[in-house]
Amino acid sequence: MSDPNSELQTPVRGRRPRYSGKYPRRFEEKYKERNAQLYPETFAKVVASGKTPAGTHRPLMVKEILEVLDLKPGDTVADCTLGYGGHAAEMLPAIQPEGRLLGLDVDPIEMPRTEQRLRQLGFGPEIFTAHRSNYAGLPQVLHPAGLSGVDALLADLGVSSMQIDDPTRGFSVKFEGPLDMRMNPQRGQPASVFLSRMNAATLSDLLVENADEPRSKEIASVIAGKLFDTTTALANQIRAALGDVGRDEQDQAIRRVFQAIRIAVNDEFSALDTFLRNLPSCLKPGGRAAVLTFHSGEDRRVKKAFQAGHRAGIYSDISEEVLRPTAEERRSNPRSLPAKLRWAKRA
Ligand SMILES: C[S@@+](CC[C@H](N)C(=O)[O-])C[C@H]1O[C@@H](n2cnc3c(N)ncnc32)[C@H](O)[C@@H]1O
Repeated sequence: MSDPNSELQTPVRGRRPRYSGKYPRRFEEKYKERNAQLYPETFAKVVASGKTPAGTHRPLMVKEILEVLDLKPGDTVADCTLGYGGHAAEMLPAIQPEGRLLGLDVDPIEMPRTEQRLRQLGFGPEIFTAHRSNYAGLPQVLHPAGLSGVDALLADLGVSSMQIDDPTRGFSVKFEGPLDMRMNPQRGQPASVFLSRMNAATLSDLLVENADEPRSKEIASVIAGKLFDTTTALANQIRAALGDVGRDEQDQAIRRVFQAIRIAVNDEFSALDTFLRNLPSCLKPGGRAAVLTFHSGEDRRVKKAFQAGHRAGIYSDISEEVLRPTAEERRSNPRSLPAKLRWAKRA
């Protein structure tokens, strides 16, 4: 399989930032790995080291997803989380000739770049269309497109590497940036405002529900109702509250708190619940769905919905066990570590 990243990058133009030391550290300094066309050796080196080049996303469990979806020429596919277009670029050739893929995403910043990359790969509007839509609204995308259902559907939940690695999006504790975390910055409230309006008891419940945070009460009591402008300011406050444990444990807690807040700010669980409710009506008879999840809150919902649908006879078959990335993929791409894949087949 070719690495779609190498073909899918959009050249980064502009003045080259200078950096001190041998290697660039900041996102804006990594112009070489963000520009595979001009610097293919740097790009290949970053991939070989097990890292994801800045500004890209490496699609996960591609082989397993293609097997589960069993795509054929002429199939209609919904990629509900288009992201970087990595999975889409692998699925599109499998459904030609006559096939069609609809890609959905809520991100207004990355989506036009992805659409452009896929067009550059030769996928014209007759076979690939991009739809800025929440996957909770999938029926409202399919029906105007004249489709009563699709043959195959993929949802690869959560955030993309481009979103995480771009400090201006405010998703990651690793990079200082505005505390925002919205996948669609044109809607809703940034994480900073969300936190400033929370009370400690509600926030503590949310940290448990969204990230199984064991020290939710202590953490909530020092961050709820306060205005943190940056990712680093929030992380430092959490670190200070957990002064009695080592740095690794603090880092894990900070990651869980960021995850919990991101889920709330983007209303991720209610979107997923609506999507799972709508899913059977979006699949043709015999149609297949694959869902990649990254934490227990997501996986629990998918598992329950698939099992209930199977018992009710809506799905003729579902994955009995969760599928995980191979040891090789886990080694070569650490971001694949938490991934779990489940599938269901419409009766
Ligand atoms: C893990 S990435 C997908 C990566 C993609 N499979 C690829 O190969 O490049 C998840 C994407 O889903 C999008 N997303 C998250 N929640 C969404 C929702 N409710 N509706 C539509 N898109 C969503 C994010 O903006 C992000 O681009």
